[in-house]
Amino acid sequence: MTSFQMSAKEDMVEKFLDAAARGDLTQVSSLLSLVPSLINQTGYSGWTALMLAARNGHLHVAEKLVSLGCDKSSVNSSSQTALDIAKFWGHRHIAGLLSQSEGSCRRILPGGDLSLQENYFGRETLDRLSGRRTDEVWLETKQKDLATVYLLFSNLSPMVSTPQEDSEGGDIKLCRFRYEAVKDLLQKPSTVLIFLGMEKMKSSSSSSSQTEEPPVWFAISTDEDAAELLRRCRENTCLFPKTPNRDLLKLSEEEAGVVAQARSVLAWHSRYSFCSTCGSSTHLEEAGYKRSCLNPECRSQRGVHNTCYPRVDPVVIMLVIHPDGNQCLLGRKKVFPAGMFSCLAGFVEPGEAIEEAVRREVEEESGVKVGPVQYVSCQPWPMPSNLMIGCLAVAVTTDIKVDEKEIEEARWFPRQQVIDSLFRGASPAFFVPPRQTIAHQLIKHWVGMNSNL
Ligand SMILES: *[C@@H]1O[C@H](CO)[C@@H](O)[C@H](O)[C@H]1NC(C)=O
Ligand SMILES: *[C@@H]1O[C@H](CO)[C@@H](O)[C@H](O)[C@H]1NC(C)=O
Ligand SMILES: [Zn+2]
Repeated sequence: MTSFQMSAKEDMVEKFLDAAARGDLTQVSSLLSLVPSLINQTGYSGWTALMLAARNGHLHVAEKLVSLGCDKSSVNSSSQTALDIAKFWGHRHIAGLLSQSEGSCRRILPGGDLSLQENYFGRETLDRLSGRRTDEVWLETKQKDLATVYLLFSNLSPMVSTPQEDSEGGDIKLCRFRYEAVKDLLQKPSTVLIFLGMEKMKSSSSSSSQTEEPPVWFAISTDEDAAELLRRCRENTCLFPKTPNRDLLKLSEEEAGVVAQARSVLAWHSRYSFCSTCGSSTHLEEAGYKRSCLNPECRSQRGVHNTCYPRVDPVVIMLVIHPDGNQCLLGRKKVFPAGMFSCLAGFVEPGEAIEEAVRREVEEESGVKVGPVQYVSCQPWPMPSNLMIGCLAVAVTTDIKVDEKEIEEARWFPRQQVIDSLFRGASPAFFVPPRQTIAHQLIKHWVGMNSNL
């Protein structure tokens, strides 16, 4: 190496460590994608990026570094690990993250890949504090708190602000309102108010902030005219997205997690305003997480009934692997954009196990019989309230016979073709759904595995 190259490298390390110390996730990520080997580099007194993030309480940076496989066990020159540092400075969340030592978990759950796969819409940005949902005094105080954040929904779409130019990914933001700006809406009987939770401690390095609770968030759904609502926004770039299953994929991971929760609960309220047992009116309780029938004679008043609580609909989504291990089965629906293929999927039926739902759906849609099924990860999909259960499955037959009511075409794709379309090679034969979907992540997961299951 020339000395010029040497110092360029040192500059890069310094820049990287500095970004970690400041909690600049964007810069940490982009430097790592340029130079992955930066991740374990040390600077002054043997401090790694993880230690610096731990020192300053930057949970997101620490999570990123851990997810990319940084060395958690290295020590600074006085033999302190990042975990020691996090504990020393009182950053509980980071200490929690770092003490989930894979070693001891692996003894309890052997065999599995324990590196957690997080999917879009799945990030738990807020602490739901479900215990507070019945604490009306606390909730009322929080509603009026100056730091409280309100999100406005119209027709199940959150108000967002958009950038001037149309660009890709992570580029719309939720509009956040304060109590003063929405208190008139809170008075209206038709308004639905949902308590979403409290921001998780991002605890900055100063200890003084620890006495104050972080802000809580609420979602408001109102039937007021959308154009009127938009006037409450100071910027003129605000709107309610018209095609949620496309537009909501442009939020940041943090905000997507909040929207997943809010939209699914609000969708339930919009569909279940009458008791499904006796048809009487219902009213909202527990800060938006329960609807009770107003008819005192109703059967739903006795015992616990799932009709009173927000629903979640389980869907299996699976990547079926050819018995030769080197091809996978993808299908397309008529409504897909031209050229797009994806994993097969379908609702779990009552009384059905996940594995059985996978086998039934694959056979119904493609005629292929499936043997072993393995769970990989899941994704809340708020369109309106699905839980996508992502699995890999191994085919035991290979002949395809498509059910044309459900899908238009299904094919076995060789691994190399799949890799080309995933990473947008020169001329991919087809394309897969965007990275925000669990289908994309399942395909990527398979591509990253050995060719033999
Ligand atoms: C960083 O250290 C960990 C733990 O020793 C190791 O598994 C990983 O491969 C290292 N990464 C790089 C890019 O050197
Ligand atoms: C190592 O980390 C600990 C905990 O933050 C700190 O007290 C100590 O001074 C560090 N050692 C060096 C040489 O920086
Ligand atoms: Zn009833």
